[in-house]
Amino acid sequence: MGSRLKDKVAIVTGAGSVGPGWGNGRATTVRFAEEGAKVFAVDRDAQALKETLDKAPSITTHICDVTRSEAVASMVRACLERFGRVDVLVNNVGGSAAGGPVEMSEAVWDAQVDFNLKSVFLGCKHVLPVMERQGGGAIVNIASTSGLRWGGSAQVAYAATKAGVIQLSRVVAVQYAPKGIRVNTVVPGQLHTRAARGASRWATPATGAIRRTRYCFLLPTKRASSPAPSWWSMAA
Ligand SMILES: NC(=O)c1ccc[n+]([C@@H]2O[C@H](COP(=O)([O-])OP(=O)(O)OC[C@H]3O[C@@H](n4cnc5c(N)ncnc54)[C@H](O)[C@@H]3O)[C@@H](O)[C@H]2O)c1
Repeated sequence: MGSRLKDKVAIVTGAGSVGPGWGNGRATTVRFAEEGAKVFAVDRDAQALKETLDKAPSITTHICDVTRSEAVASMVRACLERFGRVDVLVNNVGGSAAGGPVEMSEAVWDAQVDFNLKSVFLGCKHVLPVMERQGGGAIVNIASTSGLRWGGSAQVAYAATKAGVIQLSRVVAVQYAPKGIRVNTVVPGQLHTRAARGASRWATPATGAIRRTRYCFLLPTKRASSPAPSWWSMAA
């Protein structure tokens, strides 16, 4: 418990998890709430949001597919109707699909671009005018070390789109800094969320070795009532 985000209004996208236990968005939501934020927790999956709500009863939940522009515009309107402002946006939705350019279908490539990159673009597009009117705000975009280097297996669309998230953030950060809006990217390495455990890259010898070191953060998936990990980084 703390007050680092006392009364800040924070939209967190992907605030559930693809399975029981912790995901990045769920942990961020719970930590933000613990720090006093008014969290507007967004996911396309009502059941996933319910588990987050059970852990942080003060949050407001909202169903939205963040790859659709009109849905994201309506998400921002709903947050404004509920709280009157948006201080923080965490663009957390994303995930990987296996394969290089030959194995991957064009449909999967397009879906990955929407999932990982267009979702971030749309969040920025619809929240920035609100923050500009307010005179400030903070946007946190979740990338991945796969956007910087080889991640242990071919996941070409994930790598390319997460690299895109990093550069999109740089451009928007410089553009909006004079308006008091900060844009940062978090670049996580391997996290033992349900989604990562389902991905083929998690089963490679390289990632198996990482799991056995202290450099891998194991999220407490079996301790559903435990607080979010204390190392979780804060956005504002
Ligand atoms: N887990 C890792 O090892 C790891 C490493 C680096 C980066 N990341 C990044 O962290 C973020 C979250 O990862 P996670 O492992 O917690 O994922 P997760 O799949 O467990 O959680 C993502 C949540 O997003 C929701 N979601 C999916 N598509 C959506 C959409 N179109 N609209 C709204 N909600 C949607 C899902 O329902 C789920 O609740 C992703 O951007 C991922 O790329 C994860």
